[in-house]
Amino acid sequence: GKTIVVTGSASGIGQETARVCSAMGARVLGIDVTKRFDHVEEFYRADLSDGATIDALIDVLPKGIDGIANIAGLPPTAPADKVVAVNLFGLKHLTLGLIPKLNDGASIVNLASLAGFGWPDAVHAIRASEDVHVDDAARFAVDHQITNEGGRSYFFSKEALIAWTMQNRWTWRDRGIRMNAVSPGPVDTPILGDFLETLGARAEEDARIMDRPGTPQDLAPIVAFLLSDMTTWIRGTNIPADGGMSSNILCEMH
Ligand code: NAI
Repeated sequence: GKTIVVTGSASGIGQETARVCSAMGARVLGIDVTKRFDHVEEFYRADLSDGATIDALIDVLPKGIDGIANIAGLPPTAPADKVVAVNLFGLKHLTLGLIPKLNDGASIVNLASLAGFGWPDAVHAIRASEDVHVDDAARFAVDHQITNEGGRSYFFSKEALIAWTMQNRWTWRDRGIRMNAVSPGPVDTPILGDFLETLGARAEEDARIMDRPGTPQDLAPIVAFLLSDMTTWIRGTNIPADGGMSSNILCEMH
């Protein structure tokens, strides 16, 4: 079986992804800031907003990793610098640090969001964020006015994550390592209420037009599919899974 790292394994989409990967015969290495052992035999407790903690984690994780599911994330009810640290800078720091421990052909999947679809309008700030260290997330947020106003910290983190996923379509091509993103619409997990609270009327309106919010069970199989050998020709893409919400938004524009 494969060895798969799952961040955010203690709750929601990450927990279900860990469960699905285990059920498919994978050895799952779960990572989260809060402890919960359900479905995860090997669990590493780590705060993915802290550079030294991530470096220590990279050291202790075993070699021979076949996949990374970057699922840990914070909503914009958390401080803005924490949101960008966990959702973007910490994710990148962990992923880049683990590249030497990946097997050839490994698959990396980043949990983005429909909230990141506006990335073309944020190219300037995204460029500026490219070489920022996770421990400089707070300074970056101040310099680029990434606050929680309108959930901006969250939107920016996901915009930059989608852009980074596309930029890395061929970065590790010689080793067959690929990277993709999955972008859910509203998913019924503990943070859904935080989104509705912070993202304002538009998010509530969007949620109302859905038949139902998504569930972790809707998302985890898509992550597992991208981690599998069935999808080796999918690289550098961002796959929405949103019950039709993004097409509804695009259709409404015309
Ligand atoms: P969740 O709150 O159930 O799970 C997120 C997990 O990330 C939690 O277990 C939490 O402890 C962990 N986490 C937070 N900060 C951390 C840190 N500093 N270090 C390590 N782990 C940390 O939320 P959910 O919905 O399962 O979210 C998973 C991903 O899906 C997130 O990246 C989120 O942005 C994304 N997403 C969620 C949507 C939703 O409506 N629920 C919609 C679109 C994207």
